[in-house]
Amino acid sequence: MNVLLTGGAGFIGSHLAESLLQDGHKVTIIDKFHPYYDYKRKKEQLDRIFSYANLTFCENDLLDKESCAPIFHQSFDAVFHLAALPGVPYSFEQPLEYVDEDIKATINVLTMAGEAGIPHVLFGSSSSVYGNRDGEMSEDLPIQTVMSPYAAAKVSGEAYAHMYQHVYGFQLTVFRYFTVYGPWGRPDMAIPKFIQANLKGESIDVFGSGTARDYTYIDDIVDGMRLALAHSKGNQIYNIGSGNPITIEELVQTLKEIFPDMKVNHAPFRLGDVKQTWADLTKAKRLLGYEPKHSFEEGLRKTVQWFIRHER
Ligand SMILES: NC(=O)c1ccc[n+]([C@@H]2O[C@H](COP(=O)([O-])OP(=O)(O)OC[C@H]3O[C@@H](n4cnc5c(N)ncnc54)[C@H](O)[C@@H]3O)[C@@H](O)[C@H]2O)c1
Repeated sequence: MNVLLTGGAGFIGSHLAESLLQDGHKVTIIDKFHPYYDYKRKKEQLDRIFSYANLTFCENDLLDKESCAPIFHQSFDAVFHLAALPGVPYSFEQPLEYVDEDIKATINVLTMAGEAGIPHVLFGSSSSVYGNRDGEMSEDLPIQTVMSPYAAAKVSGEAYAHMYQHVYGFQLTVFRYFTVYGPWGRPDMAIPKFIQANLKGESIDVFGSGTARDYTYIDDIVDGMRLALAHSKGNQIYNIGSGNPITIEELVQTLKEIFPDMKVNHAPFRLGDVKQTWADLTKAKRLLGYEPKHSFEEGLRKTVQWFIRHER
């Protein structure tokens, strides 16, 4: 297939691009190297896939519709829209930046895809749209308790995606990813931060207690997206997670087995943090044959090994 991928220099996007290229697809990436985290890291993420002959990279800003529109008219079979400004804490500092990067840029992608007649749009949303809830989170739950500007922007992005699906008639697939980790993990997220602190001999900051996250290994996230590209029918929302919430205490304990001298600072809950996330995977398993393959211990071990190789 001929696939357009926004945000392909990012953490999830670069892994997805590599997997699509290995499957023999033709991939065109649009990314602007947003400075939310280190340019050098994004450049490295892209460099590792640059040797594939079937890859085209366009350094463009999706907010600049005029410069991007011609790219969309290259007979793509599908567009994965993963470009966004991620991260909950920063969204409280700069909520309007999230309106730009996560809502306005999404509207541009949806309208450009629609105008170019791209038949399938796959949008990267987030488990954060579920807000504060107990128990498993299934795709048909009403969206009520949004907790951060980031989550509000993702809810809005989903709403625009459904609306433009009606306008243009493309097939729409929405992914709600649950806390993704692995090699090249985003440096602002807990697991990469904790590993890096340990490698530097620094203490880690733990916010609140008793929280839990459905940590999902990057290869499982990519698997879910590949399955949806090949098998999804109609317009669907899918949770892509591990279905196995890990408490912050369990995460710290598992890391202590790897870094026995780890020092922990306890700090209060941060604004916008939800108590728990827990993916109900019934739908993705039934319709896509999705099955996460990495246990948390195995995924964490591989992630630590990568950081040791890469950061030392
Ligand atoms: N990592 C996670 O745990 C997680 C969880 C849920 C949802 N998501 C979503 O998955 C997607 C990918 O996340 P990630 O962790 O890879 O983040 P990332 O920051 O590594 O990647 C996002 C990429 O989008 C690019 N970008 C941002 N605005 C752009 C614009 N206007 N034009 C062109 N490029 C632009 C950035 O430069 C970056 O390379 C995002 O939509 C994010 O909200 C991520």
